Amino acid sequence: MKTQMAVAVIALLLAVACSGQPEVEKAPAEEVAVVDTGWTTVAVDDLSETQKAQQQRGLDAIQAMAGSLMGELTTALDEDGPDGAIEVCSMRAPEIAAVISNEYGVLLGRTSHRLRNQSNLPPEWAAELVRDEVAGPTWLVGPDGQVAGLLPIPTKAECGMCHGSREDMADEVLAKLDEYYPADAATDFAEGDLRGWIWVEAPKS
Ligand code: HEC
Repeated sequence: MKTQMAVAVIALLLAVACSGQPEVEKAPAEEVAVVDTGWTTVAVDDLSETQKAQQQRGLDAIQAMAGSLMGELTTALDEDGPDGAIEVCSMRAPEIAAVISNEYGVLLGRTSHRLRNQSNLPPEWAAELVRDEVAGPTWLVGPDGQVAGLLPIPTKAECGMCHGSREDMADEVLAKLDEYYPADAATDFAEGDLRGWIWVEAPKS
């Protein structure tokens, strides 16, 4: 299916660093009302044609953000090493998200149950799912006809240099992290752990 293909393409694109790779194997979440927010989870097969178009716009935006982040990170890692790449992540990740949001007419960002950057808090509709550490991709519809997705990002081996065990991390990386993120909760992830999610919200056009 188109959606699964898009997810597979995203998975291929996302090889490096602070971009993430949504999981593709998991079955869609069960239908659950997300308490008090007016949002409801929805099975992908139950999306209407209009909603599928919104979902596709969201996936396209995610793919664009991932590609862009990956490009900048690869360059930064090559040229400046991991501590230089931290500066790229900290400044460029939010800027890239803003530019792509504009371009695609969606809202999107990255979040986690253990945040590095406190401004990456989940949107209201995702808060409970994040707290529950939902491991599969989840789609929701909102009170104004929005379609939103919360797609898990697993920890990969190459994330370890910045999100792994503090004991194993380079001194200059730790120093940069302490400087930029004194409240960092995003270390001590092992390969395969759920690192966080990429979220997207596509309004009804
Ligand atoms: C070069 C260091 C570096 C590497 C390598 C790296 N990250 Fe990050 N990561 C960061 C920084 C810095 C931030 C905070 C950036 C921001 O403001 O969004 C961050 C933030 C995140 C966030 C947003 C949530 C939060 O905690 O603020 C996620 C999700 C994430 N990283 C996942 C990953 C994954 C998955 C990998 C491996 C594929 C990875 N990162 C590799 C430095 C790195």
